Amino acid sequence: MATPPELQGRHIVLGLTGGVACYKAAELARELVRSGATVQVVMTDAALQFITVATMQALSGRAVATSQWDAREPNHMPHINLSRQADAILVAPASADFIAQLAQGRAGELLSLLCLARPIESCPLLVAPAMNREMWAHPATQRNVAQITADGATVLGPAAGDQACGEVGDGRMLEAAELRDELIAFFQPKLLAGRSVLVTAGPTFEPMDPVRGITNHSSGKMGFAIARAAAEAGAQVTLVAGPVPLPTPRGVRRIDVLTAQQMFDAVLPLAPAHGFFVATAAVADWRPVQAADQKIKKKARADADSAPTLALTENPDILAAVAGLPQGQRPWCVGFAAESENVVEHARAKRVRKGVPLIVANHGPAAFGRDDNTLVLVDAQGELELPRGDKLALARALVQQMAQRAPEARQ
Ligand code: CTP
Repeated sequence: MATPPELQGRHIVLGLTGGVACYKAAELARELVRSGATVQVVMTDAALQFITVATMQALSGRAVATSQWDAREPNHMPHINLSRQADAILVAPASADFIAQLAQGRAGELLSLLCLARPIESCPLLVAPAMNREMWAHPATQRNVAQITADGATVLGPAAGDQACGEVGDGRMLEAAELRDELIAFFQPKLLAGRSVLVTAGPTFEPMDPVRGITNHSSGKMGFAIARAAAEAGAQVTLVAGPVPLPTPRGVRRIDVLTAQQMFDAVLPLAPAHGFFVATAAVADWRPVQAADQKIKKKARADADSAPTLALTENPDILAAVAGLPQGQRPWCVGFAAESENVVEHARAKRVRKGVPLIVANHGPAAFGRDDNTLVLVDAQGELELPRGDKLALARALVQQMAQRAPEARQ
């Protein structure tokens, strides 16, 4: 069964204020609609200088609200009607002036009015600043941002980079896809708030010489999805990743490694500081005893077999090493078992061998590189099959299981 779009059933008021970043708000409206949300656009007078009502109306599929004096509203109270229907108000872009209005509780036009009139408990306010770096750095703006944060708003970004004015620095609005993901994350239950999660992901690469090596088909998608799901659930997440070209999930600390030994060296010192350890990496079991300094050449003689003989040695078992840490330093460990046959039996044996409370089993060849998967959770009590879904949906389900099974796990 297909996983429903992540913002299905959510009604979002998307507020635009004056700024060049209004062009990104057009894309954002589209992303939110694609993710299943209904989007009600509200624009300030300043926003109308940057982008038209026609564009935002076409992208959101709804009439854009621009005035508190809109006579089409039967009760003449658009600020009440709009804020009572919304699951969240996202102001993107939020100008320095608009943030100042929010900080002071001003209500001079429809958008600031409805932010003030919203039911503060049930209708959260998210704000994506967009402005010149000097404006962002100004003590007045920083004071206003601190004030709206203290008043309960969630500030998303800003990012650093090239600015419309030609300067470079902090103040760029986050990209549309980043804001969409922030909003999706915002709605996830904070099951791991205050916890920390260490994840390994991807393959490792064991060099034979400077241009060749031993690796495997792991795409890293499952581990990256778990890192993202754990971060969405409020955890501090460290992701130790083998060589994969995936983007780092927002808010996740990423450490890139190449070989199994490097992954081991990165993970072991970090493990005692984490409450959970999730080992999704497809760690190469063996590595060449010695990588050649220079590319191994085919022999010039055509009559002889030029294939070199590779001597291999075993890599350290990262999961077993973490699971073997003394109590008090040992995170709650989750192993993965990618098997090609007898998936559950192998997983049961592996759980005992590695000494971990939970093993997540899947059919490796059927899962590598794909976006969806099936997972069976194997613990001391038995098995639980998670419903088939995309890897992010499965990752969220796994995070929920981890939170339930390890309520006592260390911070
Ligand atoms: N693992 C690890 N370090 C290794 C090998 C595996 O941390 N050197 C972890 C994997 O990340 C996974 C679990 O151990 O969570 C099981 O990995 P898998 O390759 O299925 O198990 P192996 O112990 O290598 O057993 P086999 O290859 O014989 O199935």
